[in-house]
Amino acid sequence: MNKVEQKAQTIWEITTQLQNATELSTALSSCLQTVIQALNSEAGTIWILDERTERIFPVFNHGPVDISGITIESGQGIAGTVIRDGESIIVEDVTKDSRFSHSVDEESGFVTRSIICAPIMGKDKPLGCVQVINKQSGELYDPSDLALCQELAALSSIAIREKGLTPDTGQGKEILISLRNITKDFPSGDGTLQVLRGINLDIYRNEFLVILGESGCGKSTLVNIIGGMERPTGGTISVEGKDFSNPTEKELTEFRRRYLSFVFQSYNLMPSLTARENVRFIAELVKDPLPVDEALKSVGLEDRAGHYPSMLSGGQQQRVAIARAIVKRPTILFADEPTAALDYRTSIEVLSAFEEIRRTQGTSIVLITHNPEIARMADRVIRLKNGQISSIRMNSHPVTATELSW
Ligand SMILES: Nc1ncnc2c1ncn2[C@@H]1O[C@H](COP(=O)(O)OP(=O)(O)OP(=O)(O)O)[C@@H](O)[C@H]1O
Ligand SMILES: [Mg+2]
Repeated sequence: MNKVEQKAQTIWEITTQLQNATELSTALSSCLQTVIQALNSEAGTIWILDERTERIFPVFNHGPVDISGITIESGQGIAGTVIRDGESIIVEDVTKDSRFSHSVDEESGFVTRSIICAPIMGKDKPLGCVQVINKQSGELYDPSDLALCQELAALSSIAIREKGLTPDTGQGKEILISLRNITKDFPSGDGTLQVLRGINLDIYRNEFLVILGESGCGKSTLVNIIGGMERPTGGTISVEGKDFSNPTEKELTEFRRRYLSFVFQSYNLMPSLTARENVRFIAELVKDPLPVDEALKSVGLEDRAGHYPSMLSGGQQQRVAIARAIVKRPTILFADEPTAALDYRTSIEVLSAFEEIRRTQGTSIVLITHNPEIARMADRVIRLKNGQISSIRMNSHPVTATELSW
């Protein structure tokens, strides 16, 4: 069989598979595999756009890297660009194409060299795309390769529009805080420093969210904006569906007092007060706090309540700080590098305290860290890079703090 006959054969195969499919998912997944093989490629993905969140989700993926659980913003990366613009792309060498940034998967080291990607059209705009990566021989993709990809996209379009296909997009989860297109500039020298560059993010009730990213990428700035401690330069924020982009001083104070709590790397306990008094001090500022001893118990410190900070270890002091943060029953607890100053064993104690609070109080935990190992505990992991979210990954099997090691 020559090349043309081979392609015709592949098209015939995928057409029959999709026409005779009883289960669309199985058929699409297997057609994708057929096309990847026909194109002698290393990997391939079918991405679907979720219109509610404007993010794209990999519904089928074959290749050496498991990307299930990752989501990307429409318009970002190659797949995101194809879905936004509705036009196919051939990228011969990702490293030399200035339109796209990452070519190495941070976790697995998989290197993307070349890509072809074709939009799957919906009624009037793309609903997803078919993407195939790296010809194994190192050859470049040619237009006839792209044509095969487009054929699969066209057939998928018919099948998906007929039968429907929805990715797991977190729909059904209750959104507490919603950020849209948040930017933050700081004056710097004679210009401005763009620290956040268009952040779209929802925080769900009772989730454990970890934010990872290198020093200086904007993690603390992001959390300070969500916490109302800093104002964004642009974009909108809503809290439980209500616009909170321009709150009054009074609304902001109430929001900070009732809705959120913060834990930082430094514990900031009052040295002249015992653990119980440090917690009680905050409990007295709000209506309907948790009983102080219950807060201490949930961080495992009921037997240290009468100790002064100087009599406690770093991990114990941090747990008092957590008890103090949760005594006002916040809806969301933000923790900015809470274990950065602690050794491994005490870090695990502190992380276990977060786990327990989330379980018993239903609190959402948003934890910032440099340590990718901690991300294994999270329901969702967000990576920030240069002021943008570079990926969001859902963890299908989060581990407990005691299973972490570093
Ligand atoms: N008030 C400010 N004025 C000017 N620049 C600021 C201000 N706050 C932060 N920046 C700058 O914004 C960038 C992001 O800072 P941010 O503290 O958010 O980073 P980060 O990701 O939390 O880093 P780290 O992991 O080191 O804590 C840095 O370049 C920082 O210097
Ligand atoms: Mg920081």
